[in-house]
Amino acid sequence: MALMTWDEALGNGVASIDDQHRELVSLMNALYDSASTGEPRDTVRLFDQLLEHTVAHFRHEESLFINTGYPEAERHRRHHELLTAKAIEYRDCAAKGDMMALRAEVLPRLATSLTMHIQKDDKDTCAFLCSMGVA
Ligand SMILES: [Fe+2]
Ligand SMILES: [Fe+2]
Repeated sequence: MALMTWDEALGNGVASIDDQHRELVSLMNALYDSASTGEPRDTVRLFDQLLEHTVAHFRHEESLFINTGYPEAERHRRHHELLTAKAIEYRDCAAKGDMMALRAEVLPRLATSLTMHIQKDDKDTCAFLCSMGVA
């Protein structure tokens, strides 16, 4: 069973951001599957991949803040920092090989944080970006 499902509620109307969010959802699901059935080593590798994509995605959003003079840029950027720190902490759980905790607690918690960020911070930001002509 998938951990996260992409649906319209996660779409914010900026194509590059929506595409990257879709990719993050797909990586979260691959990680969740791996935590159930895969080798711990593969799970850590997937976690590293998720971290890499997440950081690149945050940099992409932040470059759009700068290009458009987004007034809430600093607040949003701080949330990215907090999410990144959480993800790095959770990655250690995978590195310790605690697949049960990863599947039952850590990944669902990360999925909730990611979903809330997309539906609140990113939604507000995308409304601004759309008003500035970013599609
Ligand atoms: Fe985002
Ligand atoms: Fe964001």
